[in-house]
Amino acid sequence: MTLKQKIRAGRTVPPACYYLCMQTLREVIEDARGKRIAIGHFNISDSYQFRAVKEAAKACAMPAIVGVSEGEREALGVHEAVALVMAARAEGLNLFLNADHTHTIDKIKEAIDAGFDSVIIDASHLPFDQNMALTREAVAYARACGRDVLVEGELGMIGSGSEVLDAPPADIDKDFTDPQQAAQFARETGIDLIAPAVGNMHGVLRSGAQQKLDAKRVEEIAQSTGLPIVLHGGSGSPDEDFVAVAKAGAAEIHISTDLRVAYRKGIEQGLQQFPDEVAPYKYIAPGEQAVEKLVEKFIKLFGGI
Ligand code: G3H
Ligand code: ZN
Repeated sequence: MTLKQKIRAGRTVPPACYYLCMQTLREVIEDARGKRIAIGHFNISDSYQFRAVKEAAKACAMPAIVGVSEGEREALGVHEAVALVMAARAEGLNLFLNADHTHTIDKIKEAIDAGFDSVIIDASHLPFDQNMALTREAVAYARACGRDVLVEGELGMIGSGSEVLDAPPADIDKDFTDPQQAAQFARETGIDLIAPAVGNMHGVLRSGAQQKLDAKRVEEIAQSTGLPIVLHGGSGSPDEDFVAVAKAGAAEIHISTDLRVAYRKGIEQGLQQFPDEVAPYKYIAPGEQAVEKLVEKFIKLFGGI
């Protein structure tokens, strides 16, 4: 039963923002999966980056997911992030909010209680059984909250920092996520989406070397779990790999480092261009524009536009 059907049947209370949004995130992800395209997930930590994502989604007339990890939530504010997304929805945009890489149940509860559309319980560094136990707890809290909050689980190590790296982190998985173990993980936790290791890595290499994504493995995991795949660590992947993994079942693709790099470079240009300027919105503007341009490129690429 979809959220709309449940509301109509009087079986659930709609979230306050419900009527402002044209579709639920679950519907958007299912739609993308059916069309074999992916929805872009873009990390932000301030209102300029937020506006860049929002304007790019508006220009493409496509849904988009705004992601805030624990650190990014600390920088921006949990309730501030919700308020920004709700304001965009009030303009009729299909913009959603994800609590990215969340490591504790307390932080999961905080995000769900604040009104996030989805949460990621990131316990992939723990032994399999402990990962499953924590993930199950997150799912139980989401199911009991009275809203349709999606829960994503992670299986496989792909590094943790959205930064420019000299070398791949030592602890990333050389063997990609096993489709059968992923099926057990999905079955026994009840998650809605799964984030595997398929050649992806958080961050980019300073050398500019690109990562190779294994679309066949994405397809195998999509089939074995029956779930939409979330591709993390998107920065530093070839464009054709994005298209291939979306076709294979990756319905959501995360980009952060590329946006951070573009934002910083833009701000550096702004500072050079206006050496005596002290109004932040003036010297930050080139950074915001650079992020918007890049997000637009990714939305179009992932969406097959
Ligand atoms: O959750 C965030 C992403 O997976 C971003 O990864 O920094 O490699 O683009 P990235
Ligand atoms: Zn990630």
